[in-house]
Amino acid sequence: MRILVVGGGGREHAIAWALRRERPDAVIHCAPGNPGTAEIAENLAIAAEDTDRIADAADMYGISLTIVGPEGPLAAGLADRLRAEGRAVVGPSAAAARIEASKTFAKEVMAAAGIRTAASRTFTDLTAALHYVERHAEPLVVKASGLAAGKGAIVCATRAEAADALHMMMTDRTLGDAGATVLIEAFLEGEEVSVLALTDGREVELLPASQDHKRLLDGDVGPNTGGMGAYAPVSVATPELLQRTRDEVLLPALAELRKRGAPFSGVLYAGLMVDAAGDPSVVEFNCRLGDPETQVVLPLLTGGLAESFERIAAGKPPSPLETAPDRFAVTTVLAAAGYPDAPEKGAEITIPLTLPQGVTVFHAGTKRDPDGTLRVNGGRVLNVTAVAPGFAEAQANSRAAAESIEFAGKQYRRDIGWREATRR
Ligand code: AMP
Ligand code: GLY
Repeated sequence: MRILVVGGGGREHAIAWALRRERPDAVIHCAPGNPGTAEIAENLAIAAEDTDRIADAADMYGISLTIVGPEGPLAAGLADRLRAEGRAVVGPSAAAARIEASKTFAKEVMAAAGIRTAASRTFTDLTAALHYVERHAEPLVVKASGLAAGKGAIVCATRAEAADALHMMMTDRTLGDAGATVLIEAFLEGEEVSVLALTDGREVELLPASQDHKRLLDGDVGPNTGGMGAYAPVSVATPELLQRTRDEVLLPALAELRKRGAPFSGVLYAGLMVDAAGDPSVVEFNCRLGDPETQVVLPLLTGGLAESFERIAAGKPPSPLETAPDRFAVTTVLAAAGYPDAPEKGAEITIPLTLPQGVTVFHAGTKRDPDGTLRVNGGRVLNVTAVAPGFAEAQANSRAAAESIEFAGKQYRRDIGWREATRR
């Protein structure tokens, strides 16, 4: 079996690591991968966005299964291209990936399928958008419709902030074309939960529910980031909530996508806000595994991932996933100086030879010099995942290991999982 994992972040390291555990004899390639994947797989120096070269590599290396990590290549049609060449792929078509790549499209799907989500309006005209803001209650959320690497949503406490956000996105085009169309959305109160489902387009198999920490600083303050840490499972996600998510969110979305001629196969990610009454609303859909959610969700599995990937890539329903009972996972993201605005590259990284039991370090933005020195090479640098039989232990081990890894300017949160800790 020859597997290709497309992407080079912490999520793709975790995917390769989980597949390596389940398929010790498989040949695994990563494009482009990173120094972490280089230890368990063979990296190919091909950018995830380089569709032509990825298709060529799949051919040259006789790849039997491709897993596409990031949304960009999916939105650009990588899965369509590989499938057209007869290859087994985990990841949706460009048409189905619009559930993430166009928030306007996602809202249309939700409206048609009766899926609960924040009230919103779409604008391409700044004056009309500003006028709408004038007439609506604070707080408001301003969102770029297109792909914006986690930076496309601005929660605005006041109308003035919302007006600023609109000017930035629509006039200054700070997010490029992604901000040409914006949504103005009602603010939802509650607890966020990420529910990731493997699907063939009809049936779903849920991964353990997780919670991301989007804000840069302890206590959930500071700017939004790509994610500073995550934990799983989340006690808010009771079996009942997961059943409702399946019945009221995932299955209706899949049915609506089929109806629109864009069947979705791969991983459908529902970002939920669960209100005080316990009702889930959709904040966003993603067309892939979450980052850094994957780095806590996959380490909790004890089997069934590779088989499910093979099945959905062959158009069959996913098989049951096996999860370790009474295990908790916490990941702490180590970010570079200057992240998220202007991450500084180049600092030398030192990882202690021994880390607490159950700790795995997934690489994200790193590179290795020819002499073996490991260096910072991106905003999110490393993801320090701890798995333990108790939540507090997983939290403490992830934090201690994060503390012990050194590089100049290291930023990390010391409170990953604080909401869960409060509940317990
Ligand atoms: P998104 O890019 O849509 O995932 O939004 C990024 C983050 O902004 C989410 O994870 C939430 O923390 C926050 N957010 C987005 N939309 C809303 C909303 N309608 N109400 C409250 N918070 C939101
Ligand atoms: N962690 C949020 C995302 O993957 O979009």
